[in-house]
Amino acid sequence: MIGIFDSGLGGLTVLKSIKKNLPQYDYIYYGDTLHVPYGSRSSEAIYELSKKACDFLFEKGCKLIIVACNTASAKALRRLQTEYLNEVNGLTGQLVNILGVIRPVAEEFSMISKGRVGVIGTKGTIESGIYEEELKDEREKIKVEKSNVKSQMLNVYQQPTPLLVPFIEEGLMKRKELKSILRMYLRPLKDQQVDSLILGCTHYPLIIKQIRAIMGKNCVVPNPAEIVADKLKQYLEQHSDLEKSLAKTGQRQYFVTDLSDSFNQTATRFLKEKINFKKINEK
Ligand code: DGL
Repeated sequence: MIGIFDSGLGGLTVLKSIKKNLPQYDYIYYGDTLHVPYGSRSSEAIYELSKKACDFLFEKGCKLIIVACNTASAKALRRLQTEYLNEVNGLTGQLVNILGVIRPVAEEFSMISKGRVGVIGTKGTIESGIYEEELKDEREKIKVEKSNVKSQMLNVYQQPTPLLVPFIEEGLMKRKELKSILRMYLRPLKDQQVDSLILGCTHYPLIIKQIRAIMGKNCVVPNPAEIVADKLKQYLEQHSDLEKSLAKTGQRQYFVTDLSDSFNQTATRFLKEKINFKKINEK
């Protein structure tokens, strides 16, 4: 089973792309709707919440967890992969893994960017500086003379965009107010003439059209959920032991830490399909 963890609904965009690319596997979704948003929480709080999510998913039998939330990937993933994962692998004696969404996206952008990358995300993700760090690391690895990349130099321009998640969750994607907010947020990145833009938050693929329209044809804006799905496919091809241990019956289960009518409505709007969410009861 593959576990997908997010602070709430946003990770469903990642799951949607992964399911489309790799339909054969069993998936289990964990949305921490009781504690969303993670965007402005401390690293310690995000680590503790992420650990709880991973405990749940491993107990359910997951062999691989994708931390679909950018904020949790930025602020807790390294600690999960070192401290927590060592403990889990030691306890169970089985090989399990936890992957995030930032490294695969940075890997892809280090290849496609002509040298000026923009990043938008929650305050937590942007303040962590992780995209810049990973992008520069990945660019370092590229041998300029053997690739299409013109120069090793990569300038990264970051912009926190905290008002976007509430607009998207409220279903106000088509409102002119959202367009004005987007223009305000994207202006500095357009002024810097970024050639590519990272949507560093799980919610943003839902307004990708609006973002692309504002950024114009000189800036590529790929859907990060599709990048993550492609990289996961490659990862599974390269890790056959783990791949073999994954159940392949096409089962999907959806869990959340809080369930309300408004959540159900937003989720249906989000995925354009009716999903049967189960609420996790606190131990
Ligand atoms: N899922 C979060 C992310 O990708 C956005 C929502 C939140 O702030 O929790 O960063």
